[in-house]
Amino acid sequence: MIALRDVFKRLGDRQILAGLSLNVPKGTNFVLMGPSGTGKSVTLKHVIGILKPDSGSVRVDGQEVPAMDHDQLMALRRRMGYLFQNGALINWLSVEDNVALPLKEHGRLPKGELQDRVMEVLRLVGMDHAAKQFPPSISGGMKLRAGLARALVTKPECVLYDEPNAGLDPIISQQIHELIKEVRDTLGVTGLIVTHSRACATICGDHIGILEHGKLAVEGTVDEMVHSEHPLAKAFLGGGAD
Ligand SMILES: Nc1ncnc2c1ncn2[C@@H]1O[C@H](COP(=O)(O)OP(=O)(O)OP(=O)(O)O)[C@@H](O)[C@H]1O
Ligand SMILES: [Mg+2]
Repeated sequence: MIALRDVFKRLGDRQILAGLSLNVPKGTNFVLMGPSGTGKSVTLKHVIGILKPDSGSVRVDGQEVPAMDHDQLMALRRRMGYLFQNGALINWLSVEDNVALPLKEHGRLPKGELQDRVMEVLRLVGMDHAAKQFPPSISGGMKLRAGLARALVTKPECVLYDEPNAGLDPIISQQIHELIKEVRDTLGVTGLIVTHSRACATICGDHIGILEHGKLAVEGTVDEMVHSEHPLAKAFLGGGAD
């Protein structure tokens, strides 16, 4: 579904990606880990075409993303959800209006249908009771749920999650992990998940890769990675990691 091959990207005077390859088969969750500033968010931005590689290939469903024109990119983004850190909600819009935004951007659904879809996805993430609330009055965990609802409202085939549990307590994090897993299992959505959390990686992931010096230093199934002797795998996934 998502395939990066030998991607190089320079930003400013730094070579951020240097030969990055990764493959996310349809219906699976790939977890991307790695030290801060190594280019994990930059990688996600390549997948939805916000950034273009200097060289290499970025494909979604076999289609080359950097070669897409504006209309093709818009069509691609309709098929992909993006969960930003902290949900990235707009403070002056209610939860339901935040969640409705991608539907309004991407097409013209009749009002009734739009409302039904928004409520359906809010129910899925357990936020239907808070539809009328505004982001400043809800907790971090609720913001993330609303962000997840917004990422899912267009029924994407694929969701990119950028640190879906940053700043959340372990109990709320656990609920978010279960939700991400459920999104894969019940909706069949393909996921690319950036996280520093061992719990998130092991609960939600099928495959884990750790980015360092512009490419994956080590990758494998969750089981392989948890038992790996590679120093980065031990640091991120070993017994001492959280
Ligand atoms: N548009 C840009 N222009 C110049 N430099 C950028 C740009 N976007 C990101 N960078 C730089 O690229 C590097 C990688 O950034 P990125 O946000 O991908 O890191 P990250 O792995 O997501 O880190 P973190 O775990 O802290 O979120 C950083 O040094 C960042 O400053
Ligand atoms: Mg980041």
